[in-house]
Amino acid sequence: MKKARLAVFASGSGSNYQAIVEACIDGRIDADVVLLVCDKPGAKVLERAEKFGTKSFAFNPKDYESREAYETMLATMLDDHKVDYICLAGYMRIVGKVLLSRFEQRIINIHPSLLPSFKGAHAIQDAMEFGVKVFGVTTHFVDETLDGGRIIDQGAVAYEGNDIEELTTMIHNIEHKLYVKTINKLINKRF
Ligand code: GAR
Repeated sequence: MKKARLAVFASGSGSNYQAIVEACIDGRIDADVVLLVCDKPGAKVLERAEKFGTKSFAFNPKDYESREAYETMLATMLDDHKVDYICLAGYMRIVGKVLLSRFEQRIINIHPSLLPSFKGAHAIQDAMEFGVKVFGVTTHFVDETLDGGRIIDQGAVAYEGNDIEELTTMIHNIEHKLYVKTINKLINKRF
């Protein structure tokens, strides 16, 4: 059977991108990352992509008239690379109708909270400020809402300290394992 072809979309550091690529390389995921899409030219994830030899494409959404316009451009690129699934990994942007309709049930996201609590770009900080004692990570299908869509997997960790960096590291460690598990479910259609 042919290997699944993944595109990873990211906006920042790319530790989740790296976790996915490493899992593909060492056989924990039976897929290839064929494209890294980044909406923040200059983001660290692009350096990581170069290091791992993943083809990357960076664009600035402001250079396009609308979300529809840049997603139409991205859809062509994804077709050219015969992408089967899109994994959002710190892609800080809502996905619109163009990609959602072409990749129905084939776009997933990872978010650093136990959804539906603490959606948005500062989930770890928001949860800590709220006084949460059990933190976590969620993977889910993507719909047109912020961090919405059907939940696939969750992982939790108890933490009662007040060191956001320490907590962020703990959460990232969970993310890197959870995303591998979820991608395997996705490509093996085990739902
Ligand atoms: C991750 O913690 C991911 O869950 C989060 O961005 C971080 C990216 O880290 N995503 C969201 O908050 C989505 N709302 P990374 O660039 O090191 O993979």
